[in-house]
Amino acid sequence: MSEIISRSEEETKSIAAELVTRLPAGSVVALRGDLGAGKTAFASGILTALGAVGPFQSPTFVIMHRYDFALPSPQGIRRIYHIDAYRINASDDLARLGFEEWISDPEGLVLLEWPERVESILPKKIVTVSIETVSETERGISVCDSE
Ligand SMILES: Nc1ncnc2c1ncn2[C@@H]1O[C@H](COP(=O)(O)OP(=O)(O)OP(=O)(O)O)[C@@H](O)[C@H]1O
Ligand SMILES: [Mg+2]
Repeated sequence: MSEIISRSEEETKSIAAELVTRLPAGSVVALRGDLGAGKTAFASGILTALGAVGPFQSPTFVIMHRYDFALPSPQGIRRIYHIDAYRINASDDLARLGFEEWISDPEGLVLLEWPERVESILPKKIVTVSIETVSETERGISVCDSE
């Protein structure tokens, strides 16, 4: 696992857009990092790459935003489930909203902010993106595949 340094929000979005070219449909991506680290920026890079039109916000209050794409990505992704678990207190709450369905959608891609809030229901196979704030404009980004 190597760390890439991003020096701007745009660069973080480009790194995200590059990652999505390597993600098969059905992937679950956990976006880890403190408040303001750039989890939503990273998610936006993926959403834009697949054809969604921004601006994008963390779905903090609605918990999940679903995006449907008219054309599937080359990897067969037709839907993105962008989840923000920041306000979730118990894993069960996310389970009740349909988490199992979202992560088992073979044509879906799940982007999950604040996975530490729902650790106990995370699938074994998961791609973890960790974003570390180095300075006001610099972020250390590492991507780790569970397998
Ligand atoms: N290199 C960088 N990469 C990403 N964002 C950056 C970078 N440098 C500065 N920023 C700024 O950091 C902020 C990141 O905000 P963002 O909403 O993506 O964070 P977040 O991790 O989703 O926060 P939250 O936990 O509140 O959801 C933005 O204001 C962005 O402009
Ligand atoms: Mg966010």
